Amino acid sequence: MIGKISIDLHKVSKTVNLAIPTLAILFFLAGWKLSYYFHFGTIAFALLTLINFFYMRVQTGHALLRNFGLMGQARYMMESIGPELRQYFFANDTEEKPFNRTERSEVYRKAKGVDSATSFGSQHEFDAREVKVRHSMYPILKDQQIPYSLTFGSERGIENTYTIDKPFIISAMSYGALGEKAVRSLARGAKKAGIPMNTGEGGYPKYHLDEGCDLIFQMGTAKFGVRNDDGTLNDAKLSELVNKDSIKMIEIKLSQGAKPGKGGLLPKEKITDEIAELRGVPKGKDVISPPFHPECVGAQNTVQFIAHVQQVSGLPVGIKLCVGRPAQLEELIVEMVAQNTFPDWISVDGSEGGTGAAPKAFIDSVGMPLYPALKTVNDLLSKHGARDKLKLLAAGKLVSPERQMVAFCLGADAVYSARGFMLALGCIQALQCGNNTCPVGITTHDPELQRGIDIDVKSDRVSNYVHNLQHDLEELLSAAGCRSVQELSFDHLYIPSESTLAPYVTR
Ligand SMILES: Cc1cc2nc3c(=O)[nH]c(=O)nc-3n(C[C@H](O)[C@H](O)[C@H](O)COP(=O)(O)O)c2cc1C
Repeated sequence: MIGKISIDLHKVSKTVNLAIPTLAILFFLAGWKLSYYFHFGTIAFALLTLINFFYMRVQTGHALLRNFGLMGQARYMMESIGPELRQYFFANDTEEKPFNRTERSEVYRKAKGVDSATSFGSQHEFDAREVKVRHSMYPILKDQQIPYSLTFGSERGIENTYTIDKPFIISAMSYGALGEKAVRSLARGAKKAGIPMNTGEGGYPKYHLDEGCDLIFQMGTAKFGVRNDDGTLNDAKLSELVNKDSIKMIEIKLSQGAKPGKGGLLPKEKITDEIAELRGVPKGKDVISPPFHPECVGAQNTVQFIAHVQQVSGLPVGIKLCVGRPAQLEELIVEMVAQNTFPDWISVDGSEGGTGAAPKAFIDSVGMPLYPALKTVNDLLSKHGARDKLKLLAAGKLVSPERQMVAFCLGADAVYSARGFMLALGCIQALQCGNNTCPVGITTHDPELQRGIDIDVKSDRVSNYVHNLQHDLEELLSAAGCRSVQELSFDHLYIPSESTLAPYVTR
């Protein structure tokens, strides 16, 4: 009878660790007695013996190497390529995070202009969690729809209003988090698609301006590009910047979904001479932005600061935030009403949002996810009679038309996407944005890795993606029987009991 066969790794490693010096001795004897060619083997096994001796008897930092020697090292090697192995061979189409293969493929197909019709059945959930869009019994034809148009600043009656005619905007990603070729591809793509692009908090937007698309200049908490030495706003620098034709609007970033309550982080590996100059920071150290603007330490002065930026820039000015405690948000809205000062838009960034780099605890656990956050902001604005004083933008994994539809139903007037556009550029979700080692050249400044990006090809992908999103969105609108995204409402959503939106449904 043959007994149970199992692998005892401890015994295997003991055998290997004994075999290595034994082989070194055997090769030595063979080289001495038979042919000196065997000494190649002697050298190789002697080296491995020395390395093993170092691991098991000298170093003290790794218990695994102390106990298992070279076999322990094999574990580290396998672990380091684990993400690739799982992504290529083992993960199924709907289980990866933050975007599973089905979601990524949809963006790739849209960016390449490949038909995204699916056969046999959906891979999505039809259990008690996923929100679905309710169609109408009386759909309308696409040519019955009202062409999309949204004007920022119209509520204040300012001279420099800005109008978009597609409901998509490339969300903030700084030059710094992204490399030059990625920024150029996005900016050129935005121009081809006829949509604006947010510069992110990277300071002077040199490459964005070069490509000539419409820009939303983002003022992060460090105010790179427009700061005084003490971190406050330098009005003169802001006025000079807004003189550039391409800069259409200003966004004050109060917080970001991936790390609310924490400032931006650009790891030192990604700080080139040029980035140090554009941001006005030293090289060789991580650049950490403060968690808040020194001008904004309460509702009253936050609203005053918005008014100040509106007055200095003369442009539409919005704020970006991730919702934390609704009571604080309400206090801010009440203050806006009291001062009769409103930002021209609020960008609601869900806690599921992405980033170039952030502490894990923040990415995983701080802030409200987009859907309930958007509903909260929309409801609070309505409650205080302020909903028609400003526009509402939304960001947080809105990479597909169906997720965007949900955002519109919850009150968004237009949607932002950052990672959707990264995927359109060919991002493979290698999760290395902070290491300067992005294998497809998007979040790196390494010229060898950026070589893979052809700006013309990639900018076409960005433009195709927008075109196909718009196509699908119009189809969904028609199915819902709506002539515009403004006609969508909460009633157009089917919300199952385990959804994060369930508490908002009166049953
Ligand atoms: C690489 C990268 C860099 C980012 N840089 C910024 C930034 O400079 N300022 C900011 O407000 N948000 C930044 N974000 C957040 C995005 O603008 C967006 O709010 C968030 O990722 C949600 O959108 P998404 O789910 O479509 O990616 C960054 C995101 C990524 C992935």
